[in-house]
Order: sequence, then C-alpha cells, then structure tokens
Amino acid sequence: MELLPNPCAKVEGLKRALAIVILVVMLFAAGAECRRKRHSDIIRYSAISCRAYSASVTEFGGVGDGITLNTMAFQAAINYLSQYEAQGGSQLFVPPGRWLTGSFNLTSQFTLYLHRDAVLLASQDESDWPLIDPLPSYGRGRDAVGGRYGSLLFGTNLTDIVITGDNGTIDGQGELWWQKFRGGQLNYTRPYLIEIMYSDKVQISNLTLLNSPSWNVHPVYSSNVIVQGITILAPTNSPNTDGINPDSCTNTKIEDCYIVSGDDCVAVKSGWDEYGIAYGMPTKQLVIRRLTCISPTSAVIALGSEMSGGIEDVRAEDILAINSESGVRIKTAIGRGGYVKDIYVKGMTMRTMKWVFWMTGNYGSHADNNYDPNALPLIQNINYRDMVAENVTMAARLEGIAGDPFTGICISNVTIGLAQKPKKLQWNCTDISGISSSVVPQPCNALPNQGPEKLPACNFPEDRLSIDEVEAQVCSYERKHW
Ligand SMILES: *[C@@H]1O[C@H](CO)[C@@H](O)[C@H](O)[C@H]1NC(C)=O
Ligand SMILES: *[C@@H]1O[C@H](CO)[C@@H](O)[C@H](O)[C@H]1NC(C)=O
Ligand SMILES: *[C@@H]1O[C@H](CO)[C@@H](O)[C@H](O)[C@H]1NC(C)=O
Ligand SMILES: *[C@@H]1O[C@H](CO)[C@@H](O)[C@H](O)[C@H]1NC(C)=O
Ligand SMILES: *[C@@H]1O[C@H](CO)[C@@H](O)[C@H](O)[C@H]1NC(C)=O
Ligand SMILES: *[C@@H]1O[C@H](CO)[C@@H](O)[C@H](O)[C@H]1NC(C)=O
Ligand SMILES: *[C@@H]1O[C@H](CO)[C@@H](O)[C@H](O)[C@H]1NC(C)=O
Ligand SMILES: *[C@@H]1O[C@H](CO)[C@@H](O)[C@H](O)[C@H]1NC(C)=O
Repeated sequence: MELLPNPCAKVEGLKRALAIVILVVMLFAAGAECRRKRHSDIIRYSAISCRAYSASVTEFGGVGDGITLNTMAFQAAINYLSQYEAQGGSQLFVPPGRWLTGSFNLTSQFTLYLHRDAVLLASQDESDWPLIDPLPSYGRGRDAVGGRYGSLLFGTNLTDIVITGDNGTIDGQGELWWQKFRGGQLNYTRPYLIEIMYSDKVQISNLTLLNSPSWNVHPVYSSNVIVQGITILAPTNSPNTDGINPDSCTNTKIEDCYIVSGDDCVAVKSGWDEYGIAYGMPTKQLVIRRLTCISPTSAVIALGSEMSGGIEDVRAEDILAINSESGVRIKTAIGRGGYVKDIYVKGMTMRTMKWVFWMTGNYGSHADNNYDPNALPLIQNINYRDMVAENVTMAARLEGIAGDPFTGICISNVTIGLAQKPKKLQWNCTDISGISSSVVPQPCNALPNQGPEKLPACNFPEDRLSIDEVEAQVCSYERKHW
C-alpha cells in the first residue's frame, strides 16, 4: 500500500516479479537511506487539552498548492473527526503548503494545528462564505443592515477548542474586501478571520494572522478563552482590522501578542444600543498582558464603543504602544446604556501618541434610530498607573456626559513627555471626576493631585482570575512523511 509514494520504489517498466526482486535488493542496499527518508517527527505543542485521534487534511483530499479550493476537505475532515468528541477528541494537522479555503466550521474537543510553513489562504470569492444571522446583541451587521458572512474559522456552541500551530499563518487576503467595502459594493458585513460563539474553553495561540477582511479574532458569548502568542499584521490604513475583540465573554486572557493594524489592537465589547441592552451579556474578568501594539489611527485597548451589555473587571499590564492614536480609550454614547467599571491598567510604555488617555461619551455611531435616549452608560472606577509616554501631542481628552459624569477616575505615577508641537491645553476634562498623584504634566482640576505619598493610589487587584489557573498540557502529533 505505501510503496507507491516511496521514491525508492520507482521501478516503472519492469515486470511485477522483477520489480519486487529489485525492490527487495534496493531495500537491502539502500535500506538505511530509504528508512531515513521515510520517517515521522513528533510535533509537540502546549494546549488546554490533548486529543486521542489525529488526521491530516491531506487524508481528506486537501491540496496545498494555493489554487485548489479546500473548503470541502476541511469541512469533511472536521465532520468526520467530530465523531470522536466524546472519545478523547481529535486534532487536524495542516502540513506545509498554501491551503486556499472558504469558511468552515469547527467542532468540540477539537484542535486545529497549523505547521509553521502552512498558510490558510482565505478565498476572495463571496460565494465561499455562507451568510449567517447578525449577532443578537448587535441587531444588525456592523458594516450593513442584515446578515453577515461567516468567519473563515467559525465555531458555535462548542466546548474545548484549540486553534494553534508553530506560528503557522492565516492570510485573510483582505485587500479585495477592503476595496469593495470602501466602494460600497458589499451587501453584507465582512467576515472575520476567527469567530467562536457560545463556546466554553477556547485556546487560540501561536499563529500569525495577516490581512483580515475585518476583525481578526472575535470570541463572543463565550467563557474561558485564552488568546496567546498571536501576531496580527494588517496595513495601518485597512478598514476595521481590529486585532482581538472579546465580546460578551467571561474569563478571558490575552497574552504575548504583537498587533499592527488599521483599528484597535484590542477592543472590548458587549453589544450595541437597544440590542445589547436587551441581550444583557457583559464582558468581565478579562486580563491583557504583554501586548505590543502599533495602531496609528486607533487605540491600544478600546473599551466600547459597543458596551451596552456592560464591561467590568478588566486588568491590563505590561503594554508597549508605538505610534498609536490613543493608549486606553473608553468610547460610549447616550443610548448605549450598560457600564464600563472596575478597569485597571498598570505598566504601559508609549512612544509617539496623539492622546495617552481618551474617554468620550459622545461617540455616536448608533445601530439605528430606535435607541433609548434615556439609556445612559455608567462609567466608574477607572484606574491607570505606572506609565511612561514620550512624543505625545496631548495628554488626555476626557469627555463625560452632561448629567451623567464619568466618576472614580484614578491616574497615578504617569510621566508624559510632550512632542515638539504639543497642544496648548494638555488635559481637557468635561463631566468627569477622580483623583491623581504624581502625574506629569499636571492634570485638570477635575482630577485633583493627592500628593506624591499617594503614588500607588490607583488600584490594581492582587488576586488572580480563574483563567490564570488553567494548566497547559504538552500535546503531540506524529507526522508521518517520506
Ligand atoms: C507558543 O510557542 C512558545 C515558543 O515559541 C511556547 O513556549 C508556548 O508554550 C506556546 N504556547 C502555546 C499556548 O502553544
Ligand atoms: C457553519 O455553520 C453556520 C451556522 O451554524 C452555517 O450557516 C454554515 O453554513 C456552516 N458552514 C459550513 C461550511 O458548513
Ligand atoms: C447555541 O447556544 C445558544 C445560547 O445558548 C442558543 O440560543 C442556540 O440555539 C444554540 N444554537 C445551536 C445551533 O445549538
Ligand atoms: C511568527 O511569524 C511572524 C510573521 O513572520 C513573525 O513576525 C513573528 O516574530 C513570528 N513569531 C515567532 C514566535 O516566531
Ligand atoms: C448586492 O445587491 C444588489 C441588488 O440586490 C445586487 O445587484 C448585487 O449583485 C449584490 N452584490 C453582491 C456582492 O452580492
Ligand atoms: C512608577 O512607574 C514605573 C514604571 O513607569 C515603575 O517602574 C515604578 O515602580 C512605579 N513606582 C511606584 C511607586 O509604583
Ligand atoms: C514624534 O512624533 C511625530 C508625529 O507626531 C513623528 O513624526 C516623529 O518622528 C516622532 N519623533 C520621535 C523621536 O519618535
Ligand atoms: C475640550 O473638550 C470639549 C468637550 O469635548 C470641547 O467642546 C472643547 O472644544 C475642547 N477644548 C479644546 C481647547 O480642545
């Protein structure tokens, strides 16, 4: 059975018997060499769970030539492997190659592993992307009213799913989507690269994501989510190429990521206006650490603007921002309802920023005109400490809502070095209140200085979130090849 692909057994033109004799001789003569060529390596990786069954996409007709469409191969492989959900789970290996594919769906107790030289190439043909319903907490697609294209890797109602690799690549080939979006030629909302909905125990790690049509990683209505070691690259003028957007998720960890994109590096969300209020599912217990971000037109970490289900208990630390519009940005509006509270950020280094801090209650951007003008967002207990910034145009734009001030803002131990031509007014504060300590340049009167003895004034929780207690296992895949 396995003789055919063996280059050592190429004996075309000879009689079968002779072929076997020659083969035997060859195996004796060159046995060592042939055996060296036919080998298997053990690939090891770390994951929340290891799997009992394995397959390669090539066993389901996959061809990694960059031309053949592999949607059916991926979907057939995963449909087949889904039978092992209750029997120890399964892993699907993607070998070196360029694997053109449309959207496909993942299953539970499942790992997708991309070899470092494997590239999933997203199809640019809209018919390779099924239309799916809008998110209930948004009421409509983000780009257009109505439905949206399903993401390249899509999963819903799953438990225990890992998307990882040895820095394998997912290339969204977004250029054509961006052109069509800018030209108003799309009837539906653009797809994301990875979207996992209504799922528990999710790991997305050690991958490079290139040129997404829109957002890159979108866990939504999910819990116990780990995003680790992801490199995200997209042109800084590409539309809405947000990096990682935890949306109505509980217990999420984003660690060791490097993101350069045309929109926010991390955007924390929880639904839009009346739809998000009705759905009522917050994002909470989120930790973000060791993030490097370049986002010239947006934020390193954005909270909102869709925050109608609430955002609470966000802890960010050890963040490096380069050439970004703002550091942390809270975006909301009248009609959003919901809340952003108990936000803790410490240890941020920023180089070349337009604004270090930006909060606005005037972001607008409504789903439709049916929002409730009495639905006011609550913004409270926002803590920023231990930061250094250089080449900054303006320290802070903090704009609350008249009659609905943003309160409990604490900023301590922050040194902001200004650009050559800084704004005259460095702190512009309206409808906000809080305190400051050891902040340079001197903040606005709404954040009175408590003196240097209050240097560590702003809280940062000491306890650990349960997502930090999840233990990684060392898993393996035996790759057999010639
Ligand atoms: C990612 O790769 C690094 C080595 O490059 C490894 O230390 C780490 O365990 C991997 N993480 C995951 C979650 O696979
Ligand atoms: C994936 O699942 C979605 C929603 O369940 C469905 O609409 C879509 O057709 C599925 N995609 C494929 C390739 O089967
Ligand atoms: C997925 O879970 C959601 C929320 O529990 C539920 O409303 C929906 O019907 C489920 N979908 C499927 C396909 O099971
Ligand atoms: C993964 O690949 C990207 C793109 O080539 C590269 O920038 C990044 O440094 C790589 N990460 C690791 C851990 O090797
Ligand atoms: C968008 O809708 C218009 C009008 O129904 C139709 O002519 C056009 O082909 C559609 N475009 C796409 C990309 O589906
Ligand atoms: C002030 O912030 C710097 C980092 O910018 C940190 O190294 C230092 O420990 C902080 N000081 C205190 C008292 O927390
Ligand atoms: C400072 O920022 C400006 C843009 O505001 C940029 O052109 C310049 O190169 C930056 N300087 C340094 C030293 O980074
Ligand atoms: C300060 O902020 C308020 C509210 O956004 C705005 O109306 C005003 O123009 C700003 N002032 C300056 C000098 O930028």
